[in-house]
Amino acid sequence: MVNIAEIPHGLISAAYLVAALLFIFSLAGLSKQETSETGNLYGMIGMAIALIATIADERVSNVFVIFVAMAIGSFIGLRLAKKVEMTGMPELVAILHSFVGLAAVLVGFNSYFEMGHSFQLSITDTQKMAINIHLVEVFLGVFIGSVTFTGSIVAFAKLRGLINSAALMLPHRHKLNLAAGIVSFILMINFVQSGGSDTALYLMTFIAFVFGWHLVASIGGADMPVVVSMLNSYSGWAAAAAGFMLNNDLLIITGALVGSSGAILSYIMCKAMNRSFISVIAGGFGTEVVINDDTDYGDHLEINAESVADLLRGAKSVIITPGYGMAVAQAQYPVYEMTQALKDKGIDVRFAIHPVAGRLPGHMNVLLAEAKVPYDIVLSMDEINDDFPETDVVLVIGANDTVNPSAAEDPTSPIAGMPVLEVWNAREVIVFKRSMNPGYAGVQNPLFFKDNTQMLFGDAKESVERIFKAL
Ligand code: TAP
Repeated sequence: MVNIAEIPHGLISAAYLVAALLFIFSLAGLSKQETSETGNLYGMIGMAIALIATIADERVSNVFVIFVAMAIGSFIGLRLAKKVEMTGMPELVAILHSFVGLAAVLVGFNSYFEMGHSFQLSITDTQKMAINIHLVEVFLGVFIGSVTFTGSIVAFAKLRGLINSAALMLPHRHKLNLAAGIVSFILMINFVQSGGSDTALYLMTFIAFVFGWHLVASIGGADMPVVVSMLNSYSGWAAAAAGFMLNNDLLIITGALVGSSGAILSYIMCKAMNRSFISVIAGGFGTEVVINDDTDYGDHLEINAESVADLLRGAKSVIITPGYGMAVAQAQYPVYEMTQALKDKGIDVRFAIHPVAGRLPGHMNVLLAEAKVPYDIVLSMDEINDDFPETDVVLVIGANDTVNPSAAEDPTSPIAGMPVLEVWNAREVIVFKRSMNPGYAGVQNPLFFKDNTQMLFGDAKESVERIFKAL
């Protein structure tokens, strides 16, 4: 016999399962440019199913409050998402992670205060075990949520330029981090053994807030991409912890998906930048080196747009390496037109994309796709790095750190060891930028002073338009 009262819950579990599958399909789709639109669609359908199922759950007592919260959240979300430029996306992502962290903290406190009344009753061993498990869930959820909350706020402030992006170098900073971890662990044991202690929870929350703030503050600006992706992972684990506290399977699954995909992405980025994954998690990696600004690099050569057009006309193969400056100038549309003009002349044109070019993973790919540049001429660093010696002209459009030879040649450089696009091996290199200012990492670029490099000063969009006209 089917129990009628169980049907709604069974249906909701089935809906959650379908939503979880759609989220997995979504992640699979998002891993390739060609399937990313379908991937997004799967994610949207999955999220719609998840929302409807959650609202329809018989345990939800006040649907009205949920609708009001959704209306306010959607209004703010839509406004922010419409207003934000691609270049401001990492900041938006960072601040959104902080909300996930804060939500996990609030869910944890709420869950703890709700169970408070049962402590006085006489309970069996099994019940005691269940309470202990729940207390651990609360403690870990609040801990991860607090670290994510303050860490994300610091990442947001650094990316926005509200605070100095340089690494904060407190004395004994690694020992301070370790001490915060150990004290929190001791507090957790005390919290569980005492059947829930307000003081232990408050104290740990405070320590975790400071820990999260210090962890991100001690990481330098150039390593921010890994930090944002790491915080993405933390926010996933915070959501999964909230799922355990709320007994919500879908939140556990999605939290684990976000947590593990964020961790995998961080690992891939660490490999791409030749950084140690463990030291990123510990905070403050790659910050021991000193910036040496006194080096005399010699003089740089300048060129104008018309001469670049002449150079391109005589070339057989051209590689374009875009960077953050192309995004700022919104130069991707004229870049596409110029590419077409060169291809019409029988010149082989390809794009070389560094894994951390721009300000977020895939930044350049999205911009080029927006401008309808065909996917097959957009290659990753590993696919194209060996081809520079056989290339006639490289156009470095608004890229700087990602084409800096000191990463490969100077062990004292703050970006030492980071794999870069070896553009200097080409016959001619043209660098599009507005001044001799350094890039995001704040280090000088010896590429600008090489014999085969010429600087084309000015806004990247205007420069490309002038070249296109001259072609
Ligand atoms: P950057 O090293 O940031 O250099 C960008 C260059 O573009 C600057 O040298 C700037 O020089 C030039 N520029 C800015 N506006 C311009 C305009 N309107 N027209 C022409 N040039 C313009 O860029 P990159 O090579 O893409 O490297 C990315 C950096 O950001 C790396 O250090 C990376 O670690 C970091 N980062 C990456 C991410 C991700 S995930 N991609 C996230 C955060 C940080 P002028 O001012 O002289 O014009």
